[in-house]
Amino acid sequence: MRTDVAIIGAGPAGLLLAHLLAQDGIESVVIESRTQEYVAARIRAGILESSSVDLLTSVGLGAGVQAHGDEHRGIYLQWPSERHHLDFVDLVGRSVWVYGQTQLQADLVTASEAAGRTVFYDTSDAELHDLETDHPFVTFTDDAGARQRIDALAIAGCDGSFGPSRAAMPSDKRDSWERVYPYSWLGILADVAPSTDELIYAWHPDGFGMHSMRSATVSRLYLQVPNGTDVADWSDDAIWDALATRLGHGQDGWTLTPGPITDKSVLPMRSFVQSPMRHGRLFLAGDAAHTVPPTGAKGLNLAIADVALLAPALGRLVRKNDFALADAYSDTALRRVWRCEHFSWWMTTMLHVSGDPFDAQLQLSQLRWVTSSAHGAAGLAENYAGLPIGF
Ligand code: FAD
Ligand code: DHB
Repeated sequence: MRTDVAIIGAGPAGLLLAHLLAQDGIESVVIESRTQEYVAARIRAGILESSSVDLLTSVGLGAGVQAHGDEHRGIYLQWPSERHHLDFVDLVGRSVWVYGQTQLQADLVTASEAAGRTVFYDTSDAELHDLETDHPFVTFTDDAGARQRIDALAIAGCDGSFGPSRAAMPSDKRDSWERVYPYSWLGILADVAPSTDELIYAWHPDGFGMHSMRSATVSRLYLQVPNGTDVADWSDDAIWDALATRLGHGQDGWTLTPGPITDKSVLPMRSFVQSPMRHGRLFLAGDAAHTVPPTGAKGLNLAIADVALLAPALGRLVRKNDFALADAYSDTALRRVWRCEHFSWWMTTMLHVSGDPFDAQLQLSQLRWVTSSAHGAAGLAENYAGLPIGF
């Protein structure tokens, strides 16, 4: 089979790239190792920056966010006995949207199916070949067990942190940086109306706590837990008790309403960047090139920003054999990647308890500064609400 761009991975980066390329008249074929049902059910990110929403809207994918998303002006930052609201709209003129990655994934699948684009699900053994030539190709085994080959002018590695694309770059031509954090998140979804109008990020001596949401009837909450935590060791009651303590139930009349937990999982936290994000005719986008710890909600937005840059670069490569944007892609994308890496690391280390009392005092000082100084608050707001796509 021959196409313009072979895309590995049908997560948000891969499906959005296919959509953007199609708008420019460029054909693609997507291969995905999981089943369509598995990809659709994964519970992940929940916040879209306004530039992500603008991009989705500009390419005809904004209807879901407009109908079912919830625009938030800012967030609450808190520590015991103090809660402060940061209003991003007042501070930097931009908002964020609560819209689950699950919903965005469904919108992307609907658009892909409506356009009749080719997506192979449930594949295995994807391999990338001849990346340094002008005729790269991908081989894989399809869901019926047949070996397939896709010849393309370029390959987009959108296969997340564990896919084959990252490692397909020769080891002497890539660098990587990594930080593993000494804590994880226990995340729950609960069938209960959120107890807050906007997200709460809470520092607490017992560990970080967060209150997010998916809709008017579904809440998403997180607790800092030690690495290696087994979700089975946390009963629903223990989770709600810890959340109540860390989020300040009872303070100034605020209450946390518990409800039936429908999903529970533990997420390890890591920062990772691989550079460059391109080798020959292979281009990495999203988690395939970088990972951020979730605090600050950058992972999904970075994936969207990468493909917003990559699509025009591949368009020019395919249509005109013009490499100007393709050659610039990695350096341009990495500027934003490192900004978001720094912001995610900063939010993570400001809010998670390390056990060191000196660190705790520095964290509280930092929190007081970002909530009381207009400059400190604007810096957080500018990064959280998101820099322009071309930053
Ligand atoms: P992915 O969504 O990972 O998509 C990559 C796709 O490639 C997957 O569908 C995968 O199955 C497929 N793939 C892998 N290997 C192969 C192969 N060999 N062949 C073919 N296909 C392959 N971000 C936030 O901002 N907030 C959050 O709360 C948050 N929670 C998260 C929870 C979890 C458990 C994880 C893993 C991530 C979370 N993230 C969160 C990060 C965010 O979800 C990612 O940054 C985002 O999904 C990146 O999109 P992507 O398309 O680059 O990668
Ligand atoms: C969510 C996750 C985050 O990491 C974050 O910073 C905000 C919200 C969420 O899943 O809703």
